[in-house]
Parts: sequence; C-alpha cells; structure tokens
Amino acid sequence: MGSLHVLEHPLIQHKVSILRDKNTGVKEFREIVGEIAALMCYEATRNLPTKEIEIETPIAPARVKVLAGKKMAIVPILRAGLGMVDTMIALIPSAKIGHIGLYRDPQTHEPVKYYCKMPPDISERQVFVVDPMLATGGSASDAISFIKEYGCKSITLMDIIAAPEGIERVRHDHPDVDIFVAAVDEKLNEHAYIVPGLGDAGDRIFGTK
Ligand code: PRP
Ligand code: URA
Repeated sequence: MGSLHVLEHPLIQHKVSILRDKNTGVKEFREIVGEIAALMCYEATRNLPTKEIEIETPIAPARVKVLAGKKMAIVPILRAGLGMVDTMIALIPSAKIGHIGLYRDPQTHEPVKYYCKMPPDISERQVFVVDPMLATGGSASDAISFIKEYGCKSITLMDIIAAPEGIERVRHDHPDVDIFVAAVDEKLNEHAYIVPGLGDAGDRIFGTK
C-alpha cells in the first residue's frame, strides 16, 4: 500500500506561500517551482536503497555508499510538470525523462491525452510522476495508468498543491503509489480549481495569461 507524505519542511512551506501570492511574477514563480521540486525530490528519494563499494580516496581506501536500487525516470505531466524537471534532473543526472501530455477539457474537467513518449526501459525504472497541481486527480490517475501499461511497478507521484478530492482519487485508483505533496488545500471550486491553490500553474510558469 502506498502512503501519503505531506512535506511540512519550513523551506517548502515558505516557498509554497510565495507561489500562492497572485503578485508573484512569472520569473520568480518558475524559479520557485524548481526549488520546491528539488526539496521534494530530496524527501521523496530518502529511502532509496544503497550499497557499499570500495574506492580509494587520495588518502586511503574507503568503503562508501552508492545508490543500489532501480534506475530512475522522471515523468512530467505536460505542461506544468515541466517546471519541476530541471532541478530534479540536476539531483538525479542519470534519470531518463518521459513525457505525458494531458490537458483538462474546460467543460468536463476530464483529462485529454495528446502526447506520450517514454524511455524504452521505463518498465525497469523507479518512476517519479511530477505535476505542480493535483485537483480532481484525473490527470495524475490517467498518467499513472498509462505508465503502468508499459509494465512499471514502482511509481511515486509528486505534486506541490493537492485537493483532498485528488488525493482520494489517486489513492482509490492506484493504492500502490506513494504520494508526496507540499500542501493539502481545502477543496475544489465549481471550475475544479484548487481553493485557495495558486491559480493555473501552467499559465503562471509559462506566462500564458
Ligand atoms: C493542470 C495541472 C494538472 C491538472 C490537474 O494542467 O498541471 O496536470 O491540471 O487537474 P486534475 O487533477 O483535475 O486533472 P492543465 O490541464 O491546466 O494543463 P497545462 O499544464 O497544460 O496548463
Ligand atoms: N490546474 C491548475 O493549474 N490549477 C488548479 O487549481 C487546478 C488544476
């Protein structure tokens, strides 16, 4: 059974508050999404297995720890998930990147898939699905289902702000998936936007509104 982790680290909380402010401009918003993604990545990878290897430092032989588990992949849900990739890949340079393009139909709020490209060995990798917003949970749930179709068994979802409805949907559809979020907000409004949320993450990252 996957678990839900709400990351209450003060640095993360401070940065999420800046994102929420409607006066935060595109440049700062984009930078802070990246900074939060790095901090969340640090927490979400805390339990990765390690093994000991023998190396030589300039001074003496030493047994040191290196990552031992599955190779990793980061899968942003387009568009807004792209804002989380660069800082994560800086921390995990060997990770491959898959892309899933989904947009929410403005009337039904249902996700519509328009793109999908995965690394060929994705089934052998530990996958981190990333998107700043988990609202109804439809996009995340569909993205995880698509990734499972490739045979992936080990999937973690990372969202900055989540609505209770979205968490419930993903936990119901994918009980095996670990979920990391920085904030759980109050509810969704009639347009399925998170309240209080931060508005439209994609528009604020890319300056499209
Ligand atoms: C946003 C967000 C998620 C989705 C969340 O993307 O980045 O992907 O909505 O909503 P849900 O949980 O109700 O599915 P959007 O569809 O606005 O596309 P964009 O990233 O291209 O702006
Ligand atoms: N997508 C967003 O970007 N924001 C929301 O509040 C809901 C979906």
